[in-house]
Amino acid sequence: METDLYKIDVCLARPFLKWAGGKAQLLGEFHKRIPQSIMGRGIIERYVEPFLGGGALFFYLKRNFQVKESFLFDINQDLVVGYRVLKNDPSHLITELSNLEDKYRDKSDEERETFFYNIRKSFNQQRADFDYEKYSNQWVERASYLIFLNKTCYNGLFRQNSKDEFNVPFGKYKNPRICDEKNIIQVNKALEDTEIIMGDFSNSEGYIKKNTLVYLDPPYRPISPSSSFTCYAKEGFDDEDQIRLSKFFHRMDKRGAYLMLSNSDPKNVDANDEFFDELYQEYFLERVPAKRSINCDASKRGEIKELIVRNYCENG
Ligand SMILES: C[S@@+](CC[C@H](N)C(=O)[O-])C[C@H]1O[C@@H](n2cnc3c(N)ncnc32)[C@H](O)[C@@H]1O
Repeated sequence: METDLYKIDVCLARPFLKWAGGKAQLLGEFHKRIPQSIMGRGIIERYVEPFLGGGALFFYLKRNFQVKESFLFDINQDLVVGYRVLKNDPSHLITELSNLEDKYRDKSDEERETFFYNIRKSFNQQRADFDYEKYSNQWVERASYLIFLNKTCYNGLFRQNSKDEFNVPFGKYKNPRICDEKNIIQVNKALEDTEIIMGDFSNSEGYIKKNTLVYLDPPYRPISPSSSFTCYAKEGFDDEDQIRLSKFFHRMDKRGAYLMLSNSDPKNVDANDEFFDELYQEYFLERVPAKRSINCDASKRGEIKELIVRNYCENG
């Protein structure tokens, strides 16, 4: 399907999934901290994002800069299926999603709920023998389920339990936009000079060179002593992983990359918590205001501080 929509000059792509820890609200803070050499020319030669999620900053950069090549990583297999299908097969995906949308729209509230749980069941059953290594038509179906569930589930996010099952309940939205054709096409274009790779952040090491811009947004450290990783994702990212990441940061700093990392500030909960201040003491660590929009516990939503760490300080 080659429509006028495919003829795009300006990038308007936005995240196609709502993702826990999405950084849309911090884009202004990141913009101010983009290296001067990039701001001056408007060109990013190479961009690497080892914890991609919904990709708020990646898409922002594509909308505002000329990004010549990007390498995007995430350990979440289903997320990577979604990105690869958007890159390889947008028209097929649009067909699948508009079928799902048509079926959904025609139903009563009760029927919609049943439909949602049926898709959720199929999605979870499919996982057992799904081939994540080899791209196939099955990937398109899985990506359409992923997007459908993200748009119709409660709070619009993607969460799996320890058995890898998507377990978010039905969301009761009036008219969810399940098939956003224009954005799918924009995202497809944005992914043209991009590789999307499944795996641990450390795999990105081979793609980072001098002057590569790297944005690191790992899973948060639990914000309160009682909160657990199950709130965030099935893959725990514990203090050992944060330390492993700080060592990676040191190595990439020595290589001459531009590194920007964000994390929730543990001082939100314990003013004496120096965990990140110590890990990144050689670098520029700033605290900026943020709102925690997705939290399992509604009482813990609200104003908090986010940490931004950089290994360069060209613009203030
Ligand atoms: C805070 S989210 C990133 C959110 C993203 N910046 C956005 O705007 O949506 C962290 C991501 O890291 C991924 N992740 C968790 N452990 C990982 C690991 N060891 N290596 C790579 N990715 C990992 C999660 O699947 C999740 O998508």
